[in-house]
Amino acid sequence: MNYPSQIRSWEQYQSAYHKSVEDPEGFWAGIADEFNWHRKWDKVLDWNFSEPGVKWFSGARLNITENCLDRHLAAEGDRPAIIWEPNDPSEDSRVLTYKELHAKVCQFAHVLKNNGVRKGDRICIYMPMVPELAIAVLACARLGAIHSVVFGGFSAQSIADRIQDAQCSLVITADGAYRGNKEIPLKAVIDDALVHCPSVGKVIVLSRTRVPISMIKGRDTWWEEETRKVEAQGNPPCPAESMDAEDMLFILYTSGSTGKPKGVVHTCAGYMVYTNYSFVNVFQYRPGEIYFCTADIGWITGHSYIVYGPLSAGATSVRFEGIPTWPDAGRFWDLVDKHKVNILYTAPTAIRSLIGFGLDPVSNKDLSSLRVLGTVGEPINEEAWHWYDEHIGKGRCPIVDTWWQTETGGILISNMAGVTPAKPSYATLPLPGVQPLLVDERGEEITGNGVSGNLCIKFPWPSIIRTTYGDHDRCRQTYFATYKNLYFTGDGALRDEKGNYRITGRVDDVLNVSGHRIGTAEVENAINMHTGVVESAVVGYPHDIKGQGIYAFVIFSGNRSDADGIRKAIAATVTRIIGAIARPDKIQLVGGLPKTRSGKIMRRILRKIAEGETQNLGDTTTLLDPAVVEEIKKGKL
Ligand code: WTA
Repeated sequence: MNYPSQIRSWEQYQSAYHKSVEDPEGFWAGIADEFNWHRKWDKVLDWNFSEPGVKWFSGARLNITENCLDRHLAAEGDRPAIIWEPNDPSEDSRVLTYKELHAKVCQFAHVLKNNGVRKGDRICIYMPMVPELAIAVLACARLGAIHSVVFGGFSAQSIADRIQDAQCSLVITADGAYRGNKEIPLKAVIDDALVHCPSVGKVIVLSRTRVPISMIKGRDTWWEEETRKVEAQGNPPCPAESMDAEDMLFILYTSGSTGKPKGVVHTCAGYMVYTNYSFVNVFQYRPGEIYFCTADIGWITGHSYIVYGPLSAGATSVRFEGIPTWPDAGRFWDLVDKHKVNILYTAPTAIRSLIGFGLDPVSNKDLSSLRVLGTVGEPINEEAWHWYDEHIGKGRCPIVDTWWQTETGGILISNMAGVTPAKPSYATLPLPGVQPLLVDERGEEITGNGVSGNLCIKFPWPSIIRTTYGDHDRCRQTYFATYKNLYFTGDGALRDEKGNYRITGRVDDVLNVSGHRIGTAEVENAINMHTGVVESAVVGYPHDIKGQGIYAFVIFSGNRSDADGIRKAIAATVTRIIGAIARPDKIQLVGGLPKTRSGKIMRRILRKIAEGETQNLGDTTTLLDPAVVEEIKKGKL
């Protein structure tokens, strides 16, 4: 495959950017022309940010899986699409060529059809990072069923909330998952979740860990048995459903500043065009290269840059089931060495945790195949950037620092490897088609360079969020109502003298823990469910490895003599209600919380205390009871 819209020089970047602003419709139509369509669009873009209503490629018809699979078959069918590396290095890796992946997707699409799945149905996928996860995702897309992948670390309660919100009719899962030296009982978690989910009529279970699990008659069925039935039917071909450009492709739940996660909706055409365009440009992918993104498909990074972006570009990618530190902290580097990885895309948290193991796990690995490095999910500190550059890239691989969000569908601000300049800890410049701006609290644009403010985008790009599932007004309120006619990212940023953006972190009540978004209100709700808890307030604090840690201040009414036991029990409740990723790092039992006279918790003060600041807490005169602050300071862990 060649990539006609791949930008190769600084001058080309500038002219592409210029064209994307002057003539966005012409610009994106040129790029969209590279794909296979059943019918071309009547209009490239219709939009308003007030409802919001955004439509890309209206009237066009397509199926994204034909662009990810079928169109590669004739010339590149034997090229590996997926090189899968299991958790346990003694288990064999697996390679699926485009032909094989296509066949498996078609086969599993028949399994779904045999189990009653139709276009528009919502399907929950809760699986380990095995090739079958991508197969399940693509099989849904083949039929026009809407996938809702839930990360394997979420609890039964979180899954139930997501299934209920989307009214999923079918769940695809596995008996269990391997992560390092742990086995996660996925099916048992699903069984607990489904007690509260009457919409689910079928569960398809892949066998992975072979732990004994319960299989409910009439509801549960094995992946392997179902695929054998399709084999017995002679593996019939599976024509792809013809989808409207704006039909839903998937829902992915993400945390916001309220207690309830939102189902971010992406649609078929715009998402396909933008993930492909950003993939080939940011990473400067060259045909035949081996690309390795270490994310889990359960997050947006996995959707856009493990599944849809790379496959639509006919790329070969490594997918890894395990974790970077097992069996030892050299696992990523073993994989780079073994599979001759050219492009590595990972999270700053992973880099920071590996720095802690020193250079031994890196030093005897051959990393000479690497050409491009990338980071995503959270700000990267300069120390981690330089370590990555020096010890992994050996000073010769450009690092792309990619800023984006579940809601943006694809990378919006990033340097392009070797084409536009990098600057440590800066995401740098917007991709063509992306028009960022900074605003102050009142929504006034802050112009000029060397300034900071709240990051907004003023014009739609093809993979912008379309709605929040089942509640369009929530989408408007959350992203389009803070500032008139702007998409508000929730992030703060600064712009340097040359116009490079540096994302400084969330300005709302959302934490970014190890690159995972967690709403403080969600964690508070979970803590408040624990018996004896009267009230709680959760804030973030700087954490050496995770970027941000979770600090919970908890008013506890019961007997406090075993404070340690209480803290452990509260943490266990959070794990049960949300999942281990939201478990507080620190819990402080307090007698009261600093509140204003109107009853609002002053988080600013709690944030300072959590950060270790006890002197300059700012103005505390509006507090109802300033003595509370003294008590909290004394009791700080
Ligand atoms: C943060 C992940 C700094 C940011 C793709 C954003 C970043 C949130 C970067 C979205 C980056 C993501 N530099 N911060 N390169 N990339 N973020 O939805 O706060 O899981 O709003 O999407 O992560 O997280 P999400």
